[in-house]
Amino acid sequence: MTDDVLVVHGGSPLEGRIRVRGAKNLVSKAMVAALLGDTPSRLFDVPRIRDVEVVRGLLGLHGVKVTDGDEDGELVFDPANVESASTDQINVHAGSSRIPILFCGPLLHRLGHAFIPDLGGCHIGPRPIDFHLQALREFGATVDKRPEGLHLSAPNGLHGTKFALPYPSVGATEQVLLTAVMAEGVTELRNAAVEPEIIDLICILQKMGAIIKVHTDRVIEIQGVPKLHGYTHRPIPDRIEAASWAAAALATRGHVEVLGAQQADMMTFLNIFRSVGGEYEVTDARPPKLGDPGQEGGIRFWHPGGELKSVALETDVHPGFMTDWQQPLVVALTQARGLSIVHETVYEQRLGYTEALNTMGANIQVYRDCLGGTPCRFGRRNFKHSAVIAGPSKLHAADLVIPDLRAGFSHLIAALAAEGTSRVYGVDLINRGYEDFEAKLADLGAHVERP
Ligand code: EPZ
Repeated sequence: MTDDVLVVHGGSPLEGRIRVRGAKNLVSKAMVAALLGDTPSRLFDVPRIRDVEVVRGLLGLHGVKVTDGDEDGELVFDPANVESASTDQINVHAGSSRIPILFCGPLLHRLGHAFIPDLGGCHIGPRPIDFHLQALREFGATVDKRPEGLHLSAPNGLHGTKFALPYPSVGATEQVLLTAVMAEGVTELRNAAVEPEIIDLICILQKMGAIIKVHTDRVIEIQGVPKLHGYTHRPIPDRIEAASWAAAALATRGHVEVLGAQQADMMTFLNIFRSVGGEYEVTDARPPKLGDPGQEGGIRFWHPGGELKSVALETDVHPGFMTDWQQPLVVALTQARGLSIVHETVYEQRLGYTEALNTMGANIQVYRDCLGGTPCRFGRRNFKHSAVIAGPSKLHAADLVIPDLRAGFSHLIAALAAEGTSRVYGVDLINRGYEDFEAKLADLGAHVERP
């Protein structure tokens, strides 16, 4: 554990410019989609993060040749020789990510069978996969749960189906998309998730030859096709990472320009950021022309001085306030005058990290009640899923242990905002979702070091 620690000398504003690349929660799924093509796919702006390594490893085990392209961050996937891998080989990746569950449909189409290891991912609730398995069974797959993992087969092929999700799950919607595109017949998915990352995945599948209609009211209709080809795609930028740096700018009274951040995907975040008292300016991209080098688009976020204001917010599925924006922003809310309320409605256990903030001087109480405008699924189920943050509180340095990815980043922000020297343990977990975060901290003038 001692070599996985960052020493943070906090109390100074983050100032400077960083860049975000393709969204973690799209890129990994785009990589899985490459399995469905019968010609190579090309993906740009792929960040160097742990989830990408895991999916690259799993693709390699299944015969997909993955190589680096000419451009920095470009990956090329050649699926010409897709083959089975042994359970032992696949199990090397057990517990490392949630993405392996999305290999089900593509492997069933390509090989007729699939083995999925135990999933990993952040411990922010039970995170069941019942919607995924139910959907796969509707398509005609048989699922055999064994101690070493899931064995799936489709003895009679996969067939289009009508399916309604009990909740608009991102992963289950992706599961249905990746399975339906090559299933025989038409699939109608109701109560689908429509996050920008899902729309971008649909764009990729469409580029590959799929026929997908996104109707109003969360209905997606997919007409199965017998074959798909490779794609070339530049993914949407990571709006979670962009918001994390914005929250860091606000909490440290700093000024951070996030190149690549896109206003359209962050509207709900930007509204809250402004309500809290943060300021931002959107710079539109300008393509290069003769005599004009052009300009990369992005968003500049800053603390304008004075006091921040408290807010009430609820996390929700798109177009609501993302659950992944919640933890970084709460650190900034400890600096706002009055009582802020956060009602977490996506995950039942995503407020545990607030205890660490309290040890640093924050005043955050968590409640089992729904403290938002609408009761959520967790209201009567004994989960502490609402938080009241009283501020402003002076944060002081502490020794912190990172519990999960987004909470980890919030710990880091808190350490940067606090007076004194903190030790943040388990920082390697942040590499799962934030590319080169230590280099970016250095670019923003943070005083951090590995002991
Ligand atoms: C994706 O997780 C993201 N992960 C999460 O980001 C993100 O927080 C989440 O979507 C919501 O936006 C990736 O894309 C890899 P869900 P996913 O299925 O797909 C329940 C990060 O830090 N549910 O939309 O796993 C579930 O328990 C991560 O980048 C079931 O009950 O999320 C949760 O309460 C963390 N049964 C809710 O639905 C199921 O079969 C939403 O989960 C599936 C989900």
